[in-house]
Amino acid sequence: MRTNYCGELNKDNIDQTVEICGWVNRRRDHGGVIFLDIRDKRGIAQVVINPDNADFAIAETIRNEFVLKITGTVIARGEGLANPKLASGDIEIVASHIEILNTSKPVPFQIDATDTSEEVRLKYRYLDLRNDAMQKRMRLRSKVTHFMREFMDSHDFLDIETPFLTKATPEGARDYLVPSRTHPGEFFALPQSPQLFKQLLMMSGFERYYQIVKCFRDEDLRADRQPEFTQLDVETSFMNEDEIMKMMEELTRGMFKDAIDVDLGDEFPSITYADAMHLYGVDRPDMRIPMQMTDMDELMQGVDFKVFSGPASSDGSRVAALRVPGGASISRKKIDKYTKYVSIYGAKGLAYIKLNEDGPASPILKFLGDDVTAKVIEMTGAQTGDIIFFGADKTKIVNEALGNLREQLAKDMDLFDKPWAPIWVVDFPMFDENDDGSLSAIHHPFTAPNVDAKTLEETAPTALSRAYDLVINGSEVGGGSIRIHQVEMQQTVLKLLGISDEEAKDKFGFLLDALEYGCPPHGGMAFGLDRLVMIMTGSDSIRDVIAFPKTQTAACLLTDAPAEVPRKVLRELSVQVSLAKKD
Ligand code: AMO
Ligand code: AMP
Repeated sequence: MRTNYCGELNKDNIDQTVEICGWVNRRRDHGGVIFLDIRDKRGIAQVVINPDNADFAIAETIRNEFVLKITGTVIARGEGLANPKLASGDIEIVASHIEILNTSKPVPFQIDATDTSEEVRLKYRYLDLRNDAMQKRMRLRSKVTHFMREFMDSHDFLDIETPFLTKATPEGARDYLVPSRTHPGEFFALPQSPQLFKQLLMMSGFERYYQIVKCFRDEDLRADRQPEFTQLDVETSFMNEDEIMKMMEELTRGMFKDAIDVDLGDEFPSITYADAMHLYGVDRPDMRIPMQMTDMDELMQGVDFKVFSGPASSDGSRVAALRVPGGASISRKKIDKYTKYVSIYGAKGLAYIKLNEDGPASPILKFLGDDVTAKVIEMTGAQTGDIIFFGADKTKIVNEALGNLREQLAKDMDLFDKPWAPIWVVDFPMFDENDDGSLSAIHHPFTAPNVDAKTLEETAPTALSRAYDLVINGSEVGGGSIRIHQVEMQQTVLKLLGISDEEAKDKFGFLLDALEYGCPPHGGMAFGLDRLVMIMTGSDSIRDVIAFPKTQTAACLLTDAPAEVPRKVLRELSVQVSLAKKD
């Protein structure tokens, strides 16, 4: 139907007769001459319809978003009329024939508007996806998956599909369940990841597996989480963590170069989980921000300020300082705002010292005294013009408060010293200790510890795992580990997690059995594709890189899913719905 794409027409096409197809991006009536901006997947071209055109009457009926086929001649735009914003801005097409392929009702929002509410955008997602930014993001996403496939194929990985209708695969979220009609009262779980199946594939001897696959997790949603999202899922046999990380690093580097022409540098640095928490307060440190927390426990133990001396002296608590270059100019009002911000994480206050031209200034100077204040300045390396913030509380609260404050300040004050900062986080603990003393897996229960089973049992709360996360610009874009490949170790870990033999057999019996038939040492990793594309495109929301995303409440505004189903269908599924009470 077409000879050329709108966005590709340029001076080389002058005098040619062309046929283009696309949507009316804008129609302008200039007293007798009608201008149409026609949009297709490659861009926009301007069409001119003069009053003497045989189809002029048709042109007068055309509105935005009509679908047209236009035949015309390419001419140079008049002197001073070029549009540098358009790739085709030097030319225009004088129409000779116009065919309306379809009409459009008035659209609920201008396609290229930037102020449309997200609710409306998601309800009319098929229109929203017409806009240039969304088209570009979807194209980039496709480029990334294309590169992933090429890389994995060229490294001898096999693309193998794993089931969606399956049993629970614990990754720390709730399962989405699907009732079985043929087994009344029983449910499939949608996979939180293909973790168990990819391990089974190693036991089946494939040695290298990958899949670009949907995962389903019913968890509280955030700007970087969706209930269904996509992983590049990878598993290998006979490779240790260094070998796997090296290969995944090569993939990541190649992907960034190919998709957005960014050079992520040579070897990615790595940091232990303990250091990341201690210095940056989070397990996904944003290394573009040249700020670290400084430990103040020892210094503050003896001060006459209970807010500091208490946490400084007790186990499980800490006092830390965060020096912010240039922060002395932060107003009182803003400090109050940041104090409120850290209270989200449980912080009871946000003490500070400003280093003004005439010396340190702070409501807590009188408590600390000159010597301690001087020592704080020395330890943090603070200079005139800086501010030092303090956190003093349970370690978890201080880390979360100052860790998140660090990122917020960097955004507000543009304190980034490089555009890209990848880092591996390693030496994660195996377990998180719950308040009641029970343990839960930090990654998943199939992650290998870096000690033998006996030592693990003796040192469980402090034992480290062979897991690794890849963090780029403060976003956890991937994670993986060496897996347990011996049944005794797997049983020990399940036991430490409080899972009885019976429950283990019921939930993972097939895995425990398979481990006993010659399971090779294996390990792997999964990348969050949506998060990768999100940071590559600089998007604030994961929804902007997914064609048909869910809202914060895990609903689809376009299709109105989830939805009620007729009673008859529920009866067939042996499902009864009670809306009486929510617990
Ligand atoms: P994990 O749970 O860390 O590991 O997931 C891997 C990566 O997937 C992304 N991700 C998400 N993206 C969007 N929305 C979500 N709700 C969401 N949850 C996770 C993150 C994360 O780094 N089976 C293991 C991998 C392995 O051990 O090989 C797993 O799923 O970018
Ligand atoms: P107060 O003596 O409670 O008025 O606190 C004096 C200063 O210490 C104020 O700037 C508070 O914001 C700050 N502050 C109070 N509690 C904490 C805390 N747990 N961590 C950090 N700063 C705090």
